[in-house]
Amino acid sequence: MIHILCANPALDRTIYVQAFYPNGVTRSSASHEGLGGKGFNVALPFIVTNEQKTIHMHTFFGGPVGEQLAQMMKNAQLAGETTFIEGDNRYCTILVNESKQEAALINEQGPSITEKEQQQFLQSLFCSLKAGDHLVLSGSLPKGTPLTFYRDIIAQAESRGVQTILDSSGDALAYGAEAKPWLIKINGEEFLDLMGVKEEAANRQQQIEESLKNSPYPNCIVTLGGEGTVAKINGDIWRVTLPTINVTNATASGDIFLGTFIREWRKTNDVKAALLAGSALSLANCLHWLPTIDFAQAEQYQQKIHIERVGSAV
Ligand SMILES: Nc1ncnc2c1ncn2[C@@H]1O[C@H](COP(=O)(O)OP(=O)(O)OP(=O)(O)O)[C@@H](O)[C@H]1O
Ligand SMILES: [Mg+2]
Repeated sequence: MIHILCANPALDRTIYVQAFYPNGVTRSSASHEGLGGKGFNVALPFIVTNEQKTIHMHTFFGGPVGEQLAQMMKNAQLAGETTFIEGDNRYCTILVNESKQEAALINEQGPSITEKEQQQFLQSLFCSLKAGDHLVLSGSLPKGTPLTFYRDIIAQAESRGVQTILDSSGDALAYGAEAKPWLIKINGEEFLDLMGVKEEAANRQQQIEESLKNSPYPNCIVTLGGEGTVAKINGDIWRVTLPTINVTNATASGDIFLGTFIREWRKTNDVKAALLAGSALSLANCLHWLPTIDFAQAEQYQQKIHIERVGSAV
């Protein structure tokens, strides 16, 4: 089983406009509501392939938006443990200006989680984790939780034979990384921040590859947007290079990469196949306004994605 922790879920509301009038009335041409928050984006590859039974969600729902999210989760046939909270879940608004081909994102903060709610959540989480499972911890921490929230979960889960995967930023990432998760998946900026290294803009990919070789983390994937990915897995360093595409919206690409990587890894244990699947589907996601799993487009680009083993970890 793959458990996915979505600590800060959101109702993603996408509003399409032909033009935007900052001091006037803007009329939308269409709108769309979707289940959001990093963990739910990680779940997308499993929903589209009808493999919901292989994943188990862990999240907090509260207020009218929480009720809507619970219904959306049911409609998507996602099972999981939900901790109901006093606070209200958030909206995230994506304003798409179609004529300018631009998207602006407004991510609300989300509710505060009380200590009692955190205890309930942890109790249901640890009741459902079994040795041999994977646990994905994805996204920022909600208000009210300690910065060590992910770290303590990772330490306890790993001690019970669960392989944990962390994708976060800032302090939640720094503390979480201390507990040595089985895999860290972050982007270039988050990686350099974690390593305390200043970016050399002209030489970023090489700099990240070198830092990755020397990093203390056993397995780490660093995605670099259009520049591809570098990864350290089981002592080998891998480099993924991508073809150039016309990006529509790259939001959720990292989450789709991660969901696809872990889906393929659980099936094949093949690093190259998992990096290829993750790269192709996250690239294809960039061709859409909404987070999208597009197997047809991924297959079209697959031939142009190069993956090579470029060395070993120090
Ligand atoms: N401009 C692009 N062209 C092609 N592929 C892209 C582009 N941007 C992102 N991707 C694909 O998506 C993957 C993840 O992208 P990125 O490094 O931006 O993740 P991220 O910053 O963690 O994203 P998020 O956290 O918003 O989901 C890349 O490794 C690549 O495969
Ligand atoms: Mg990310």
